[in-house]
Amino acid sequence: MEFHVVTLFPDLFDSPLSCGLIGRAIKAGLISVVLHSLRNYGLGRYRQVDDTPYGGGHGMVMRPEPIAAAFDAALERRPGLWRIILTPQGEVLNQAKVERLAQHKPGLLLLAGRYEGIDERVRTMADQELSIGDYVLAGGELAALVIIEAVTRLVPGAVGNPESLKEESLSGPTLEYPQYTKPREFRGQRVPDVLLGGDHQKIRAWRDEQARKRTAQRRPDLVGKDKA
Ligand code: ADE
Repeated sequence: MEFHVVTLFPDLFDSPLSCGLIGRAIKAGLISVVLHSLRNYGLGRYRQVDDTPYGGGHGMVMRPEPIAAAFDAALERRPGLWRIILTPQGEVLNQAKVERLAQHKPGLLLLAGRYEGIDERVRTMADQELSIGDYVLAGGELAALVIIEAVTRLVPGAVGNPESLKEESLSGPTLEYPQYTKPREFRGQRVPDVLLGGDHQKIRAWRDEQARKRTAQRRPDLVGKDKA
């Protein structure tokens, strides 16, 4: 799986791409991430990437030409990338959408927008617009990293114990059951007896019940819902 990111801040990716799950997946050759610095495609002596909005108003708007040039470069290097614009105006990401993104071969081209906005004509260059939630970030870089990590988890071999993935995908959009580890008692709170008994059928039933209750209590919006 290949991820290409078009960004004004490639440095922002250094540490997230070198640590943890993503870092390991890159080292193992399971994924690769190519950063395209938008500044390299800027216009004129100052490598301009934005300008004032037609019609007036506050702030600057990202011009379409540098973005088009960066997209062309990425797609020339890897034809067939699924083109995504990260914006709070996009479809809101969820696990079902992440699973669909993981199917896109050879990979994803992610545009991390910055500033107050992007010229409307850029939207015609994308296959999909995605938001990672109903809040506004300073730009799409962190959203791109969220997508890279969520998709990488689904690349075969990236997650140490694939059983945990299997459980997630079968359970649909429900919350996880409560987990416990040592010690048996912590600040007066005991691990539920059922988990200490070794009866795996009982444990399974208890966990299913807890997951169901927890979902109903915390996320009633997910109850009875198919993956969307
Ligand atoms: N850029 C700014 N806010 C964003 C969000 N919530 N999701 C994706 N990209 C964004």
